[in-house]
Amino acid sequence: MKICKTVQEMREQCDAARRSGKRLGIVPTMGALHEGHLSLVRAARKSCGVVAASIFVNPAQFGPNEDLAKYPRNFERDCELLKAEKVELLFAPTVEEVYPEGAVTWVTVEGLSEKLDGRSRPGHFRGVTTVVAKLFHIVQPNAAFFGRKDAAQVAIIRKMVRDLHFAVEIVACPIVREVDGLALSSRNVYLDAAQREQALALYRSLTRVKEMWEAGERNAARLIEAGRDEIGRERSVRPDYFEIVDAENLDEVTNVERGTLVAVAAFVGTTRLIDNVVLGE
Ligand code: PAJ
Repeated sequence: MKICKTVQEMREQCDAARRSGKRLGIVPTMGALHEGHLSLVRAARKSCGVVAASIFVNPAQFGPNEDLAKYPRNFERDCELLKAEKVELLFAPTVEEVYPEGAVTWVTVEGLSEKLDGRSRPGHFRGVTTVVAKLFHIVQPNAAFFGRKDAAQVAIIRKMVRDLHFAVEIVACPIVREVDGLALSSRNVYLDAAQREQALALYRSLTRVKEMWEAGERNAARLIEAGRDEIGRERSVRPDYFEIVDAENLDEVTNVERGTLVAVAAFVGTTRLIDNVVLGE
């Protein structure tokens, strides 16, 4: 695995890969890798001759009171995991490399960026789209792999790609969960044993809504009420949002059809967790 720390090195490596006629796939991450990240690498491996990953804890997508400073970092271990997956290229730049001194240019997907997580994390999605746009310019991948765990992120990146004519295929991969249903997240390491149990309230709330929908309930208000009620049962979990929205434009729906996104965010202690299901899948 070739580790590139600079934009120029990464560009040269990616240019060479593309020139060799191979399909180039990129898996963008912030490191602290787990099976969710590795599932994206494996999906990339299936369709791409050269698989690149990036590890970059992007300051621009963290709010002033968020966990940027304590975000888990384990570069050596991440490298071992990526090597074991036979990843060819790793881009691991410094903040200064990605945001050159005095950088003031941003990529914003207006409207969509203020929904779901964007509402409680102002500026978050602007940080995401800016860094992903930079990455797409540097790597010029044929395909980029994202997890459905971050459903709003996928919708926003798809919109950015259409709006800015990026020639990259966006592949959205299924959520990887622990056996008890908890969605894998780099932030799960913040949870103590009691919080780890409490965190299951998110998945339970989604499961309850899914079961009601499968039993024929189509009224969004009633489904949302049931989801919120389930979260509310776990007294120590503080809900942020529980929404039922169109998976593409993230607008609220009233009549809940197949393919609708049910998304939840909640604080367990100070840790903010998110999860979602797509109905009928
Ligand atoms: P990060 O949180 O490290 O996640 C990297 C990728 O892994 C994202 O596409 C995310 O959706 C996916 N992922 C995380 N947990 C998953 C799970 N349990 N199952 C499946 N996929 C999962 O998302 C980011 O980083 C950043 O916003 C980034 C896109 C890298 C831009 O900075």
